[in-house]
Amino acid sequence: MHYTIGVLCLLISFHCCLSVPASPRDYKVFADLPTCSTEEDQLSDCIKQIFNTLNPRLKDGNTDLKIPPYEPLVLNRTSFQYSSGNVNGRITMKNAKIYGFSANTAKEVNAKYKDGKVKLRFLTFLPKLNIAGQYKADLQVNQLQIKPKGDFNVTLTNVEVTTITDGEVYEKDGHRFFRMKNIDSNPKIGDLHIKANGIFQDPELDKIALDVANQYWRDIYGIMLPETRQYWQPLLLRIFNEVLELVPIDAFLKD
Ligand SMILES: *[C@@H]1O[C@H](CO)[C@@H](O)[C@H](O)[C@H]1NC(C)=O
Ligand SMILES: *[C@@H]1O[C@H](CO)[C@@H](O)[C@H](O)[C@H]1NC(C)=O
Repeated sequence: MHYTIGVLCLLISFHCCLSVPASPRDYKVFADLPTCSTEEDQLSDCIKQIFNTLNPRLKDGNTDLKIPPYEPLVLNRTSFQYSSGNVNGRITMKNAKIYGFSANTAKEVNAKYKDGKVKLRFLTFLPKLNIAGQYKADLQVNQLQIKPKGDFNVTLTNVEVTTITDGEVYEKDGHRFFRMKNIDSNPKIGDLHIKANGIFQDPELDKIALDVANQYWRDIYGIMLPETRQYWQPLLLRIFNEVLELVPIDAFLKD
């Protein structure tokens, strides 16, 4: 997803630039896209159009631009510390595959560019996101030590994400690039369904736990989201900037 968003950032980023003539690289994949003027009334729509064209187009990756495929997006190993109320410990996901990012569409974009500084706000909509893989946890729940381990499969529907970011344009090797400085993402989920095994020794207990989790997912999510923000927000920012570093924004500029 991060690449998706990275891609969107780069689309976003194009708008920002000064009119320094630069010799663009080979941007075949962008050839039919509009170039954007930095005029405030045109910029936002132009970014939206580019995002909605490029996101499905780049889903299988692009070797020239070194963009890896993101449909599915594969996360090998992601680990985070969780601590809230009576629950404390580490949760690790392995071989997670995320399907659905290529259908992410920008609904609203607000872009402002001034003196090399960029401010962006965008609202995206994903009809369905499916995340499946293996998990392992080492948790202290009250006095109890539990080490669940198994497969999980989470389906999210109607995911609306509002993202606010600001950044700047810089020059390197005769090209202009965009770098994000801050990002603030707020996902809203229409519905969520969790399937998993290995929480308890007894599959019947697993079923009960999952029924409860699925019934109360809004409460769980409401706690998890702010608790885990300190892990995923810097990760998002880093991944976006890694992608943005690969793609000069000259290709999208009306010079
Ligand atoms: C993910 O795992 C695969 C298979 O084990 C490996 O080829 C790939 O390099 C790994 N990717 C990362 C980013 O570690
Ligand atoms: C996860 O669940 C979805 C929806 O039920 C299903 O389409 C998908 O095949 C499942 N994926 C795995 C790896 O089990």
